[in-house]
Amino acid sequence: MSSPIEYAYNNRSNHLAELFEFLRIPSVSTQPGHKEDTARAATWLTESMKRIGLENVHTFATDRHPLVYADWLHAGPEAPTVLVYGHYDVQPPEPLELWDSPPFEPVIRDDYVYARGSSDDKGQVYIHIKAAEAYLKANGRLPVNLKFIIEGEEEIGSEGLHKFIPQHRDLLAADSALVSDTAMLGRGKPALVYGLRGNCHILVDITGPGRDLHSGTYGGGINNPLNAMSHLIARLKDERGHILIPGFYDRVRPLTVGERELLANFPLDEAAWLVETGAPEIWGEPEYSLVERISARPTLDVTGLIGGYTGEGTKTVLPSHAHAKISMRLVPDQDPKEIAELFQQFARSILPPSVKVTMRGGGSKPALIDRDTPPMRAAAAAYEATFHHPAVFMREGGSIPVVNQFESDLKLPTVLMGFGLPGDHIHSPNERFYVPNFFAGIETSIRYLELLRQTE
Ligand code: BES
Ligand code: MN
Ligand code: MN
Repeated sequence: MSSPIEYAYNNRSNHLAELFEFLRIPSVSTQPGHKEDTARAATWLTESMKRIGLENVHTFATDRHPLVYADWLHAGPEAPTVLVYGHYDVQPPEPLELWDSPPFEPVIRDDYVYARGSSDDKGQVYIHIKAAEAYLKANGRLPVNLKFIIEGEEEIGSEGLHKFIPQHRDLLAADSALVSDTAMLGRGKPALVYGLRGNCHILVDITGPGRDLHSGTYGGGINNPLNAMSHLIARLKDERGHILIPGFYDRVRPLTVGERELLANFPLDEAAWLVETGAPEIWGEPEYSLVERISARPTLDVTGLIGGYTGEGTKTVLPSHAHAKISMRLVPDQDPKEIAELFQQFARSILPPSVKVTMRGGGSKPALIDRDTPPMRAAAAAYEATFHHPAVFMREGGSIPVVNQFESDLKLPTVLMGFGLPGDHIHSPNERFYVPNFFAGIETSIRYLELLRQTE
């Protein structure tokens, strides 16, 4: 008889081979051409969960991509119930020519598995499925009641899950939530994320003349939508990074002295960080540190700008329309709906009647998690037992839309226990996952579930 940790150790190559199968499915949620593939990833997960003895394995259809649910609820009424969340959808792999090996043909180089979704989030969510397997195969039981909810729409805003939660409160009822979809500080240095930014994205479409016009014949008498767009964009933010939309900062919860101290001690190597970005210089709000700027302050960025003639050579034309994609990252207690409204009011107040504008948008709420909860302490202990290094607390600048709902709606103390690394290139070409972290993650999960049972 082996222990769960021994079982996981002895089955490493099987577990990795299974992860490779999962990674071969191109479950790109945003691309309609991959709808079937995304569904196939959900089915693959259900089969893999049934095989290890998880129960009530179901897929639930949503308007876009299915949700996968499974549980094992025989640990007894005294034992806590843990809801494990993750996502099986991935970002588009483009531009393909920048990949050193094809994105959906996983390969190992220098201890990393390279594939789209390896770190975000297939490799990380699979860790907990394998930890459950280790318990079920080695002990025939789990130390806690376990539920899984794995979605296929995280990378497109989690709308289906957002609607599902209020309709399935009993199904999802638990004592805490566990999410592995973030990164550690570096190799061997675990990090517990206690803050996530929200987001608000707006697509701005401006139209002027009914068709492209000769810029000599008509120029001077017609407002150019690209000029109007540029004028709007220039007024959204000043040179120092301060956002100029009236009311934008009204609900930003000021950082406490204690939190600023915590963040000031966060071991970010600014020089190395700058090198990794390839940018010439660090930039941003002068009154906030780099760590604060990238994790605890809201942002506004133009992420795409389209219009006019962009082919080779010159063309003297007044474009008939202009399009911009705006992305704002939000912090507590900003609300994406309210921010979208403020943005639109401001844009309408700036744009003259010589152009027409339409705007669409969406978003997700930020999250800030109590650092002093029993699951958080168990997570810190499990991390330390595995990595022999204490975990640091950090805020993450990215977003995981559902976490706010876990905390504020389902009232689940949530643990963000990531196993990614800063150089994983998530969303970029050559995404990778550090294979030793896959195995260490399984070990950490095994320890965490046992520690969790003891703390309740
Ligand atoms: N796993 C990421 C969030 C993340 C990013 C964690 C960076 C740690 C470091 C998640 O899959 C993600 O990419 N979220 C999107 C959400 C958006 C599409 C609503 C994001 O932050 O852009
Ligand atoms: Mn993710
Ligand atoms: Mn992602």
